[in-house]
Amino acid sequence: MLDLILKTIWLLLPAYTPNNFAVLVGGGTPIDFGKNFFDGRRILGDGKTWRGFVGGIAGGVLTANLQYAVETLFAFKIYSSLPYAEFFTLTMLLAAGSMIGDSVGSFFKRRLGYERGARFLIVDQLTFLIVTLFISALYAPFWKLFSVEIILTAILLTPALHLGINYIAFRIGFKEVPW
Ligand code: CTP
Ligand code: MG
Repeated sequence: MLDLILKTIWLLLPAYTPNNFAVLVGGGTPIDFGKNFFDGRRILGDGKTWRGFVGGIAGGVLTANLQYAVETLFAFKIYSSLPYAEFFTLTMLLAAGSMIGDSVGSFFKRRLGYERGARFLIVDQLTFLIVTLFISALYAPFWKLFSVEIILTAILLTPALHLGINYIAFRIGFKEVPW
């Protein structure tokens, strides 16, 4: 059980980390270039920028490569059980899927009238994951590492992890609110 949870988190780190990198490097030109959709609201909003998008993907790929190095150093094989080229393509898809899914989530939020930065439970925590899994699953080597069991664990675990980490960030003073 704990094994399954830890393995799921390890496999998803390249998809979890891009948004954090986007927060760090984001800013500048918005992905929607400031344009509105037919409903008169922004397509994505100022919270989705090109710099954040590209930096986020680069951050996810960097994280994956650090994981590969850690596996080699500590002699365990999860990602490093794949040939490097397959590992690279897969984790690239996880990172890119995560940033695409993050934007898809913002698109839905804007259509429903949520302002940039407004919290929207489930959409904030699951849209990116579903899109990531969907895109990565089209790449056959995905199935060498992601079993149905792992995918279900990911879907159940991600919202809980999100809330848990936010609560910790609140307790140590990084966030104003515990959610
Ligand atoms: N960010 C960015 N580019 C992205 C994603 C995120 O620049 N593609 C940066 C923005 O500064 C953003 C912050 O990371 O405000 C936090 O990301 P997120 O919570 O995803 O965006 P929100 O500001 O909450 O906007 P939204 O309501 O659209 O989710
Ligand atoms: Mg947000």
